[in-house]
Amino acid sequence: MQLISLRPSCNSNCSSLSRKKENVSGGRLLNHVAQKLKEEPVNFLKTMAPPLVAAIIAFSPVIYPPVSLAQTIDIQKGATLFRQACIGCHDAGGNIIQPGATLLLKDLQRNGVDAEEEIYRITYSGKGRMPGFGENCTPRGQCTFGPRLQDDDIKLLAAFVKLQADQGWANTETNGD
Ligand code: HEC
Repeated sequence: MQLISLRPSCNSNCSSLSRKKENVSGGRLLNHVAQKLKEEPVNFLKTMAPPLVAAIIAFSPVIYPPVSLAQTIDIQKGATLFRQACIGCHDAGGNIIQPGATLLLKDLQRNGVDAEEEIYRITYSGKGRMPGFGENCTPRGQCTFGPRLQDDDIKLLAAFVKLQADQGWANTETNGD
């Protein structure tokens, strides 16, 4: 009685569906396999979960460097560009000139520049005492006296900085070229 009242929307469709299910040949065997599959992984996970979790925690800095993302952005090239143009002031994502404007996520967020486009814009045109590196950066006084960077390189740098910020600048040393 209860079941029927719990499924008020059940009409003729429902009964035809359940009839189909009953007619599946070997339905009992399938049920048995499904039951096994249901039980075994659970037992496996129950015994394996604690050591697995421990291993993941213990090795996470090793297991999760940005290696998997290296296909989407060229980490090596990003790291090389960063070393050439940015590391002088932003070693390990810091800021030796302006401590409140590091490339760490919390500063980027607080300063409202954690979006890749914002990082690109600052890198291109500069900001305050940070020189711009874009080929058409103006005015001159706001731009680097050193070599300018190609547009694609600035895009790559923005993606690189964003990625590093998201990952806490943990793998800077391992990204050597
Ligand atoms: C001469 C030192 C210097 C160099 C070289 C330099 N920066 Fe900066 N950078 C600064 C300073 C200073 C600021 C703070 C600017 C401000 O907010 O007024 C800054 C800010 C930033 C910010 C915003 C950080 C925040 O939390 O607000 C980003 C992003 C950034 N720099 C990226 C780069 C990149 C990428 C490069 C290399 C292409 C680079 N910088 C090279 C000095 C430098």
